[in-house]
Amino acid sequence: MNILGISAHYHDSAAALVVDGVPAAAVQQERLSRHKHDAGFPLEAIDWCLEHAGLTPADLDAVVFYERSMLKLERILVCSLRAFPRSWRSFPHAMRNSLGEKVWVRGIIASYLGVPRRNILFTGHHASHAAAAFLTAPTRRAAILTADGVGEWATLTVGRGERTAAGATTLSLTREIRFPHSLGMLYSTFTAYLGFPVNDGEYKVMGLAAYGRPTLCDAVRKVIRRTADGGFTLVPEYFEYQTSASRSFSQAFVDLFGPPRHPYDPIDLESADGRRFADCAASVQRVLEDTLLDIARALRRDTGLPDLCFGGGVALNGVANARLLAESGFERVFVPPAPGDAGCAVGAALYADRLYFRNPDRDVPDHPFMGPRVDADELARVARDDGQRVEALDEPELLDRVADDLAAGRIVGWMDGAAEFGPRALGHRSILAAPHAVEMRDRLNRDIKSREEFRPFAPVVAVEDADRYFDLPPGGLRLARFMSGVFPVRAEWRSRLAAVTHVDGTARVQALEREMAPRLHALLGAYGRRSGIPVLLNTSFNVAGEPIVNRAIEGYSTYRRCGIDTLVAGPTLVTKPALPQARSMKEAYA
Ligand SMILES: [Fe+2]
Repeated sequence: MNILGISAHYHDSAAALVVDGVPAAAVQQERLSRHKHDAGFPLEAIDWCLEHAGLTPADLDAVVFYERSMLKLERILVCSLRAFPRSWRSFPHAMRNSLGEKVWVRGIIASYLGVPRRNILFTGHHASHAAAAFLTAPTRRAAILTADGVGEWATLTVGRGERTAAGATTLSLTREIRFPHSLGMLYSTFTAYLGFPVNDGEYKVMGLAAYGRPTLCDAVRKVIRRTADGGFTLVPEYFEYQTSASRSFSQAFVDLFGPPRHPYDPIDLESADGRRFADCAASVQRVLEDTLLDIARALRRDTGLPDLCFGGGVALNGVANARLLAESGFERVFVPPAPGDAGCAVGAALYADRLYFRNPDRDVPDHPFMGPRVDADELARVARDDGQRVEALDEPELLDRVADDLAAGRIVGWMDGAAEFGPRALGHRSILAAPHAVEMRDRLNRDIKSREEFRPFAPVVAVEDADRYFDLPPGGLRLARFMSGVFPVRAEWRSRLAAVTHVDGTARVQALEREMAPRLHALLGAYGRRSGIPVLLNTSFNVAGEPIVNRAIEGYSTYRRCGIDTLVAGPTLVTKPALPQARSMKEAYA
């Protein structure tokens, strides 16, 4: 049975194909269209998935959309009417931006793909998140928690899932918190207040939080109040996202926290305002963690289950995930590599397979490499045409050369096999560098990522070496598999891992199993033999404002435009010639 899952029209559109119960292909539209966070109907992603599997639309047994668009329309209508007349300005905007063609999804899918309308199904948004988290995790029975900004109505759900020995699957979400009460919206409101773009700058808030102190938690708890049933409400007077198209926080919010930061103002942590912004970030981060923790503890008590599967955009918060693992009572926490809305494409397709069609349970690949493969010959061709130095090396020689380059302080663009599905580079589309010196972090931020200096880089280490360098709690290796947890760097290594150690002594470490990305695993070994520390800095292969590279040509273009020194795809090694020594003015004009 062939089932296509689609996530679209909000942010991070994606398509995924499940063939006979197993995800066979998945890719975000942005990787193909090259528009970051592309929210359009993911035609190119669908095309690629079908082509990759050798299918045509006529071969699809079902196409599953990741949320119920009419319910979403209902939510927008109801919220707008409730807030009328304050909402009259935002209503057309909400209709256009949040819905647009979304209401007509069935017709759009039918006309684009030429599939019968009866084969087009819809799942609940949080059911898609839940399925993406539970049905891809190597566990048979688990509690489920989802949290995001908003889908249709739900913003947070709890429940449980089971894959029985007989092959049946159950997944039930038993409680939910509804819009406008939303942990994701709370965090996004602070993201906007702190001058960062919503749905993109949340990472920056988390990075900034480490520089601040949670001195404003009491103020944050004025805008989010806990309820007697263990949930929470956002206090409406502090928010405007329901009634304004341009601002998510109200004047009361500004009265409470002070003037917001203008996006173009630098954050000066030496100034009073800079410290206030960092303290705001630290405080909302702390309250988010505490709220999630209480909900997770209650879920642990109610279900009695040792495993938790956590999905939704809030599950990208690695600091919160690490606290859930350490303090909620769950022994293992599973976060999929794409917990956000893109991952719903996989979730929706798996949900339909297991729960709508009631197909038997199948084990799902425990890795994120579901996208297009890089073509090493294409890289060689393009680089040679461009006059670069191109070599084709056998594997041991290539690894030696790349490890030598890394040890010499050169920055490496690393492309290997199928692209990751999800926002993180986990070893197939990565920029790699030596993790030891803070100068390397600054060079990457300045020459490649063009981003704020307070944002940390992540390390990658082989699973077998992880405990030596990082203080992982029991279950930490699992969270670190897809870089989903932030853990302390062991104190004795912090100065020698300065480029990947955040100001609070932590790192969002990836613990790599050999089977998941054997080449990067081997490279870690080769690098460790040279430097004495088998850890590398691993950041996504892109420059600011662009999606992660997909094809060789995009890797090459990125390499040519920024400070990457060495580029690898398969056996192909491309190196920039050493810059000629600058001549003196006298020589130049002689
Ligand atoms: Fe979502």
